[in-house]
Amino acid sequence: MKSTFLLIAFVIAGNLFGQQNPYVQPADSSKMQWFKEAKLGIFIHYGIYAVNGTGESWPIYNNEIPYADYMSQLKGFTASKYNPESWARLFKEAGARYAVLTTKHHDGVALWDTKMSDLSVVKKTPARRDLIKPYAEALRKEGLKVGLYFSHLDWSNPDYATVFDGKDRNPKNPNPWDYPKSGVEDTVRWNRFLAFNRGQLKELQEIANPDLWWFDGDWSRTAQQWKMKELRQTLLTWNPKAILNSRMQGYGDYVTPEQGVPVAGPQGPWELCMTINDSWGYRGIDTNQKSLDYIIRIFSECISMGGNLLLDVGPKEDGTITPEQSATLKGLGRWTKKHSEAIYGTQRGILPGHFYGPTTLSKDKKTLYCFVLDNPKAEVVVKGIRNKIKAIRVLGSNQDLKFKLNGGASWLNIPPVLLIDLPADQLDRNTTVIAIELDTPLELYRGEGGAVEKN
Ligand code: GLC
Repeated sequence: MKSTFLLIAFVIAGNLFGQQNPYVQPADSSKMQWFKEAKLGIFIHYGIYAVNGTGESWPIYNNEIPYADYMSQLKGFTASKYNPESWARLFKEAGARYAVLTTKHHDGVALWDTKMSDLSVVKKTPARRDLIKPYAEALRKEGLKVGLYFSHLDWSNPDYATVFDGKDRNPKNPNPWDYPKSGVEDTVRWNRFLAFNRGQLKELQEIANPDLWWFDGDWSRTAQQWKMKELRQTLLTWNPKAILNSRMQGYGDYVTPEQGVPVAGPQGPWELCMTINDSWGYRGIDTNQKSLDYIIRIFSECISMGGNLLLDVGPKEDGTITPEQSATLKGLGRWTKKHSEAIYGTQRGILPGHFYGPTTLSKDKKTLYCFVLDNPKAEVVVKGIRNKIKAIRVLGSNQDLKFKLNGGASWLNIPPVLLIDLPADQLDRNTTVIAIELDTPLELYRGEGGAVEKN
């Protein structure tokens, strides 16, 4: 009831002020600045699931693998070639400005020396060491912001499945990994779980003081059960500048669509998380890697709609990123470097209909960047620009392009169509970006055309 009311209130406020997304809190915009400008982050799902390539945590919940068999992967987790400096260099080369590492997935295995339980790679695997501090240090050395993924839920802690979700979501067939098998709630144990959860977060705070908390696994409890409001306050007391993703039952700062580019960009800050192949963690059998062209397309679409892309890699158990995934990141790096002007610090582009592809706009709105995803057969067309065009150039070579203005009806205030000549020798091997320089901030014709009524 209360949450429905809150949601409605947020939607109304959102409509009044134009920007607020109902699933997150109105974030302090100054702390969000680096995030909005970053555009690209790298997600790292690193954990014991890489040993046999079982896939992260879910086989436990779905009863695909007995818990003990899944956990037997602990014995094979060595981190023997763990080198976060080389990760950080690779991510930087890709053009990323931040990264997010799974400190603990739903399986409950901590990648640091937690004092709250014995289930960590330090105590239970041959790796025998903390992987979080060196990661945070390596990122900061390369000037990247530090993100920590943390699963609220924990299928290894017996105190987790001790209450229902208060919404009666699945009363007939409750999954015992989520809810009490006995059907009887035990709030004392649930409170003990919350203390465990807060204790682990405090440890991570002390180890890494993250710039961004990337939470997951909030779905089987309400905000009240999680005490999310208090958690938000606590995290912000530890570090007022910390950014929180939305998987906090309404108490985060930005929304996180997953695996599919939104058709229309969400309001406010957002980030699409997406795998390079079909798996979050390393799975040898998954060879369905997305092509670099496709990843660049997705990235361009995200930034065109004002979002970031958090591209996921799944390192092997020894800590190495596969040559295929490294090659994709390097290829992305060649492209982001050449086109950085159209990426970092730009803003949401123009609505579809003016140009057949993604666009971004410079801060002063005097440069419109058009991402030519498919090689053109004829001129590149842009409709509806009212401004005087100073010049048009290709990013990279900065060569001036010839253009023509066609049609329009000045007496009806309908601007002409812009036809740009993009020669084949100016095409990028992935996506070509054209910069249209305007004399004044972009003004668009958004009308439906007009009929001549008087001659
Ligand atoms: C989903 C999955 C989880 C994955 C996450 C990444 O929430 O449960 O396995 O880590 O997405 O966004």
